[in-house]
Amino acid sequence: MKIWVVANQKGGVGKTTTTVSLAGHLVKQSKRVLLIDLDPHGSMTSYFGMEPEAPGVSVYSLFKAAAEKRSVDPMRTIHPTDFEQISIMPGSTALATLDRQLGSRPGMGLVLKRALANLVDQFDYVLIDCPPILGVTMVNALAAAEYLIVPVQTEYLALKGLERMLRTLSMIQSSRKQRLDHAIVPTMYDQRTRASHDTLQLLRERYRHELWPGVIPVDTQFREASRMGKPLPLIAPSARGSVAYGELLDWLQGGQPQTVNSASTSAALAEGV
Ligand SMILES: Nc1ncnc2c1ncn2[C@@H]1O[C@H](COP(=O)(O)OP(=O)(O)OP(=O)(O)O)[C@@H](O)[C@H]1O
Ligand SMILES: [Mg+2]
Repeated sequence: MKIWVVANQKGGVGKTTTTVSLAGHLVKQSKRVLLIDLDPHGSMTSYFGMEPEAPGVSVYSLFKAAAEKRSVDPMRTIHPTDFEQISIMPGSTALATLDRQLGSRPGMGLVLKRALANLVDQFDYVLIDCPPILGVTMVNALAAAEYLIVPVQTEYLALKGLERMLRTLSMIQSSRKQRLDHAIVPTMYDQRTRASHDTLQLLRERYRHELWPGVIPVDTQFREASRMGKPLPLIAPSARGSVAYGELLDWLQGGQPQTVNSASTSAALAEGV
């Protein structure tokens, strides 16, 4: 079971879209996928037709039980979706109260990692969608992660959020036994705009060794897919956005930062070809 976390301390950069789109491609590879929504806004939970406001068993239940020193079977917090191979541990608006209520209690940083240890035979991939804030849920995600994906919108203000995220990563790194590798993924690339072009150049200059060599283009079909509650790669496999996320997944599964050719289409897009 692989555990990948999608995080950036900046909002609206494509974290949820990245999580859902990678899940869509994993389904096409016949993998069993568990999605975990750590965002109190519950965008991914809503995406799959559930209500983050509804009381019920969610990822919040794991934290609450841990704080009260009760045990809860993590399988009870996992719900099916319309897609047989995708299960979800939904988010809840109650997650917003976690830091104030429980954050400072000892042991709260490893709740998710411990829960996932009980699920290793159930899923091939766990993808965790984080909120854009550093708090107890993001700390949990980074403690449990085997790999970190940092989507960065290709626009001027994005670099500050990226720097903050990388500082958080190095802070977490020191408390982990194993190193946490990461990849920066340029998103919402619009080849017609100067901002996209310049930001991509800057990312390539500053972060060459940790940057996925492709780009996720702007694609209006993502909005349509989210309205339908379906991952774009499953409803429009040849959409530009689907193809780009497919290349990202291939690259992540190849695991090698030098496989520039595997991201050929989106790299070509980035060059404006
Ligand atoms: N490549 C893309 N092209 C066009 N629209 C996109 C793309 N990626 C994401 N979007 C749209 O941008 C909006 C924000 O994306 P998303 O919800 O994935 O970001 P997020 O980082 O998860 O946001 P938040 O921080 O609020 O959780 C959504 O409406 C989504 O449909
Ligand atoms: Mg989101």
